[in-house]
Amino acid sequence: MNFAVFASGNGTNLQAIIKALKKGKINANLALVLSDNKEAYALKRAKRAKIKTVVVEAKNFSSREDYDAEIVKILEQEKIDFIVLAGFMRIITSVLINNFRNKILNIHPALLPSFKGTHAIVDAFNYGVKVTGVTVHFVDEKMDHGPIILQGSVKVEEDDTAETLEAKIHKIEHKIYPEAIRLFSEGKIKIEGRKARIA
Ligand code: GRF
Repeated sequence: MNFAVFASGNGTNLQAIIKALKKGKINANLALVLSDNKEAYALKRAKRAKIKTVVVEAKNFSSREDYDAEIVKILEQEKIDFIVLAGFMRIITSVLINNFRNKILNIHPALLPSFKGTHAIVDAFNYGVKVTGVTVHFVDEKMDHGPIILQGSVKVEEDDTAETLEAKIHKIEHKIYPEAIRLFSEGKIKIEGRKARIA
C-alpha cells in the first residue's frame, strides 16, 4: 500500500515513521510528503530520506474545498491508498474525507475526547489533569472525533512544566503512530460504528 504523510511543521512524527519504515516495522510505502507550508522542516526530513514532496499553498485556492480537490488529484496521480496526518494544520473538508473514507489517520496530543483543538497539551496542563496522553484516530467530518485506533497515557508529575509534558507526549507519539500505521497497513483495524477494533 502507498501512503502519504501530511505535515505543516517540524515533522518529528514523520521522522519516527521514516525510522520505523527503515527498520522494516511498517509494511507499506511512504510515497509522498505533502505540506501546505513551504518552510516546513518536515519537507527537509522527507528530502533527506529521498521521499517525494509536494507543497500545496492555501493562498492559491479560493476555498477549502478547492484546496482539497487539488490534493485529491495529486493523491490519485500518486496512487495513494491512505493518508497520515502528522501535524497538518488545516481543517480538511468532506471533499478529501469522502475520497478517503476511513483511510485518513490523525494523531492528537491528548486523550480524546478531552482537550480537542490546537493547544491540547497546554490546555490539559493548565486544567491540572494528572494523566494525559496521545490519541491516534480515524478522521471524520468533526474535528478530533473519529474512531480511536490507539491511545497512550502520560502521567503529569508535580514538577512537570508544559514543556517537559510536551516532550513526554512527543515520545509516546513517536511510538504509537508507527504502530497504528503498521496495524492499518496490515488490515488489522475494523471499524464498527464508533469503534475501531484491532484484530
Ligand atoms: C504533534 O504533537 C501532533 O500530535 C499534533 O501536531 C504535532 C506535530 O508535531 N497533531 P511534529 O510536526 O510531528 O513534530
